[in-house]
Amino acid sequence: MARPTWNSEMRSAALATLDSKQWVKGAQGSAFGVEFAEHCVALSATPCQNGSSALWAALRIAEIGPGDEVIVPSFTFISSTTCVLLVGATPVFVDIEPDYYCLDVEQVRQAITPKTKAVIGVHLFGQVYASELIDLCKKENLVLIEDAAQAHGATQTYADGSSHTAGAMGDIGCFSFFPSKNMAVGGEGGMLTTTQIRFQDRIVGITNHGRSPDLEAIQLGSNLRMSEVSAAIGRSQLSHLEQWVGRRRKNAEKYTAALATHPLINAPKTRPNSQHAWHQYCIETENPTHLIAHLDERGIDARRYYTVPCHRQQVYNSHHQFNSELPNTERAAASLVAIPVMHELTADEQQYIIEALLEYQ
Ligand SMILES: Cc1ncc(COP(=O)(O)O)c(C=O)c1O
Repeated sequence: MARPTWNSEMRSAALATLDSKQWVKGAQGSAFGVEFAEHCVALSATPCQNGSSALWAALRIAEIGPGDEVIVPSFTFISSTTCVLLVGATPVFVDIEPDYYCLDVEQVRQAITPKTKAVIGVHLFGQVYASELIDLCKKENLVLIEDAAQAHGATQTYADGSSHTAGAMGDIGCFSFFPSKNMAVGGEGGMLTTTQIRFQDRIVGITNHGRSPDLEAIQLGSNLRMSEVSAAIGRSQLSHLEQWVGRRRKNAEKYTAALATHPLINAPKTRPNSQHAWHQYCIETENPTHLIAHLDERGIDARRYYTVPCHRQQVYNSHHQFNSELPNTERAAASLVAIPVMHELTADEQQYIIEALLEYQ
């Protein structure tokens, strides 16, 4: 399902950084932030330890805490929602769109209460959330935290014709560089981006014990810094991101064409006016276990995401929505199968997978 690139360019970048003995707080981390901000066209970007700590930091920077509500999807990776518990606030789970698996904006609107302070929108599988979510958050004065952990390189054109990249479609963006993601850093890693001048300095501070440039702790923070070796590897990977996401898009197009008339499998849809980043290519089928067994017999890796919606996991057993029905969430959880779409998939491998899918009748 994942095959991160590791080559002589990345190895040299890592070794040169180790040889420099500047292992923390150096030029690699600063340059990685600048280059990542350029890529997203965000105001700034700050490397950090991983996507989960980026989400926690984003909520702290937005001053979310006990008594506040944060609207989240339930069909996502667990840390898109548990970050809210970690700051003592209450996640409010909202259903997703049936076709694109991102937050349903109308249902977000209905879930807003006087306690709502923020929304965590997830670009799930690399599909961007609806731009109407951005409009709604602006109108309601809610902080929009963009969980872009799966969406490096995704883009969207808004109704006014302007084009935006994941990481600059909200107030604070959170990325993960876990090895399976569209780009990686040779270990754990994350990035915090922002489009808002009011958050810019606090983001840098929170990753460094909440300290100001003259080293006084002015906010609660921690050591969330990325190591220099990871930043050096990340810089090298970032320089290939556009090309890699392009390959993911070609792979996705090929699958979608091949599956167009399949009787048992539906290919995923892409939101109009957007470019999917295809972190995962998830097909819909009535019997996912059966399809996975069929692929497994042929030596093909395939995975289900996310079979137990977040609000139904034990960590939420005392949450008021633990037994709530979110119909589109339940349907997606029961029907999706992700198949390999990574940029390093060879043409022969993809052909083999397509033939196996076409044999599944
Ligand atoms: C949607 C989403 N949010 C957050 C995260 C957390 O990122 P990390 O694993 O780097 O902590 C992930 C990682 O899998 C993710 O997929």
